[in-house]
Amino acid sequence: MSTLVMVLNGPNLNLLGSREPHIYGHDTLDSIAAMLDDKAQALGLVVDLRQSNHEGHLVDWLHEAASRGALAVILNAGAYTHTSIALHDAIKAISVPVIEVHLSNPHAREAFRHTSFIAPVAKGSICGFGAGSYALALDAAAALRQ
Ligand code: DQA
Repeated sequence: MSTLVMVLNGPNLNLLGSREPHIYGHDTLDSIAAMLDDKAQALGLVVDLRQSNHEGHLVDWLHEAASRGALAVILNAGAYTHTSIALHDAIKAISVPVIEVHLSNPHAREAFRHTSFIAPVAKGSICGFGAGSYALALDAAAALRQ
């Protein structure tokens, strides 16, 4: 059984920490990566965290997760969540379970954030807990081993 969990982050998430901190909190993507590395070690998992502002990179990385036989993908697709049929199709095309995460709770925000093209093809979704959403998602990925 694979121990690899790819944590893929979409547009504008490189700005975490300074981007609308009242919505997304003060954690940076680097601090989230460090937190996940520690937690992964305790769980016997290996995290490969990446970020891109380009939709196609996220598609390529989903394919890569499949070719590497990853245990799971944790995906915060950012605004592509609400627009991307390409990401929807990529998730459908692979058998690796994808866990959708968001720092904020999109359902409690603007109407255009209420639609997710990821949710219908995800194993499950976790949102609204800030950086804690990623920690919960890693626990969920660990539970997929059983
Ligand atoms: C987000 C929510 C999205 O609606 C938004 O476009 C983001 C971040 C979140 O983590 O809360 O970029 O995915």
